[in-house]
Amino acid sequence: MNEDRLTRAALHAFAELNRPLFEGELRTLVDLPSVSSDPERIRDIRLCAEAAVDLFLRHGGSAELLETSGNPLVLGRFDADPGFPTVTVYNHLDVQPANEPEWTTNPFHMEIQGDTYLGRGTTDDKGPALTAFFGALAAREAQVPLNIHFLWELEEEIGSPSFREGLERNREALRTSAVIVSDTIWITRGRPSTPAGLRGLAGFRLTLETARHDLHSGVVGGAARNPLAELITAVADMLDGPTGRVKIPHFYREVVPPSGKERREWDRSGFTVEQFKQDHHLLTLRTDRARKVMKRVWARPTMEVHGVVGGYTGPGIKTAVPARAEVKMSCRLVPGMDVETTLNRIRKFLASHHPDVEFHAEHGLAPFMGRVTGPCAEAVKAAYAFGFGIPCCFTREGGSIGAVSTMEEVLGCQVSFLGLSLPSHGYHAPNENYDWEQAAGGMAAFSHFFMTMSSTL
Ligand code: BES
Ligand code: MN
Ligand code: MN
Repeated sequence: MNEDRLTRAALHAFAELNRPLFEGELRTLVDLPSVSSDPERIRDIRLCAEAAVDLFLRHGGSAELLETSGNPLVLGRFDADPGFPTVTVYNHLDVQPANEPEWTTNPFHMEIQGDTYLGRGTTDDKGPALTAFFGALAAREAQVPLNIHFLWELEEEIGSPSFREGLERNREALRTSAVIVSDTIWITRGRPSTPAGLRGLAGFRLTLETARHDLHSGVVGGAARNPLAELITAVADMLDGPTGRVKIPHFYREVVPPSGKERREWDRSGFTVEQFKQDHHLLTLRTDRARKVMKRVWARPTMEVHGVVGGYTGPGIKTAVPARAEVKMSCRLVPGMDVETTLNRIRKFLASHHPDVEFHAEHGLAPFMGRVTGPCAEAVKAAYAFGFGIPCCFTREGGSIGAVSTMEEVLGCQVSFLGLSLPSHGYHAPNENYDWEQAAGGMAAFSHFFMTMSSTL
């Protein structure tokens, strides 16, 4: 191992030297609209997977596509020696749609504005993926005695439906000593944080049909049932909108409150409500107390209404009774809860209070509780301190990454997080962006992480 190449100065120089290359590679990936939820983008998903394989080959690694019954997985490798341990970096290359009217640039044409990279997927999760990739290039140049593998998914944003199948079919090729995931966000710039837990997700839709087609409300109104009104009532029976309190019996039964130790760690995290509101462009919140906001986002389950379909939405009103309606919903789950139990409680409640409402389960992702001690956690802490000059804190994250618990289970190894995104980068939001400060610091952090792991595994 050539330790001279792993100093702060050497890695800073590595990042600056490789900046144009990094930006070019990021543009190649961002300009491919790999929107996994859009069936019309299946071709772009494939092109993006092929571009990723090509990336590894061009940089002297090896790579292959692991086919599944859905989108493929990309497995890229920088192998040094079969006798060395292997670390696998997980990221996803699929992205959310980008139809928000607030975009000021073309979301699938990456724009560089100074140190900022604008475009869908720049921060979630193509930028962090490439940052880890360049961290591996630096580690390879320094001859770190480690095999570095990359597992890039293309179905993360739709709940990872084929991920387990992909892992189970390729256990041998995917054998690894540890997994590091770079798909999470910090508290704010200059405050690295790594999740000790992630929330899970239970998605579902409610539908109701009461006529063959829309009808005149003067002719049938009063006698005809109104499916839109009934679904709204069903939602109101399950959820208190203003407080967010879920009224389903036993919904909160398995929720474990965060320990005093964890709360104290959160208090030291630098989280402020002002910053939270500013970063996410929030106008008002359900509470303005920092401890409550952190608890609500990181350690409490939720029920959300994402969309309502039905009825007339044109200008003015149209005096029709809709024939059918749909509500799209999900619950975030915290460690202790599980998808099936939660969905069953909701199903049971609806069956007794709104028996005609049809319930359709959508993707389910298990919540995740990680480790804040041990060699991997120590390597993460050291990596952030090295790359950004500031130690990280362990918080939790409110989002979900389906692949995490599946990797722990199927690959049988610990999963840790080295996220690089900032709240202000705008996950899933219009004008999503990533920046050079996070990329350069992240490359140094990753190469340091690889170095530490090579000696602790
Ligand atoms: N990177 C996010 C997960 C995340 C969000 C981690 C916030 C930390 C904080 C991931 O890409 C994501 O958006 N997951 C989706 C999954 C869903 C669409 C199945 C989510 O959490 O909604
Ligand atoms: Mn992501
Ligand atoms: Mn996402």
